[in-house]
Amino acid sequence: MEAFAGKTLIKMIMGDITRQETEAIVNAANSGLMGGGGVDGAIHRAGGPQILAECKEIRARQGRLPTGQAVITSGGKLKARYVIHTVGPVWSGGKRNEDELLGNAYRNSLALARERGIRTISFPSISTGIYSFPVDRAARIALGVVKDFVSSRPVFEEVRFVLFSPPVLEEFEAAWEELINK
Ligand code: APR
Repeated sequence: MEAFAGKTLIKMIMGDITRQETEAIVNAANSGLMGGGGVDGAIHRAGGPQILAECKEIRARQGRLPTGQAVITSGGKLKARYVIHTVGPVWSGGKRNEDELLGNAYRNSLALARERGIRTISFPSISTGIYSFPVDRAARIALGVVKDFVSSRPVFEEVRFVLFSPPVLEEFEAAWEELINK
């Protein structure tokens, strides 16, 4: 599905984020920044050791990455030139500020990309795998934040959501319809 928010193309596709040719891709990392499973594991495997080496430097410099924050490394062997690593919240029932923290992860990733002059970026569905955030709720937050961000700051050519399965893609498409019709 494709739509515009201001001048930014919002694309939702099913696919593997490690294969995207956008200037940056976003990693759903953890605070340790040392890799993991899910999308994090896939990005480090496909991108090679350069990404982990840069993550280690960031760790040494600034310690653990708090939930909702974002940092940037090169893309190693990936087509994408940069990887933005952010940490989504672990779902624990919705009473621990998870919604706001998830919104922050998207917002801070976009802010960092903008600072670096990046104009095309791909996101996975942060927190909805190992961290168990409900997908319908996460999709509404993700798209709401992206729509608000790009509407007030027309710097991105394209923001792409790369979803890993048909049900997740459908949740994102439904969330977008709801958002633009409200
Ligand atoms: N491309 C796109 N999406 C992917 C890919 C991929 N190659 N691999 C997995 N996904 C999807 C999952 O199916 C899920 O919908 O990304 C979404 C996020 O899932 P996770 O990767 O499990 O991320 P998250 O829920 O944020 O958990 C983060 O997992 O791997 C660890 O180090 C990571 O501890 C952190 C935790």
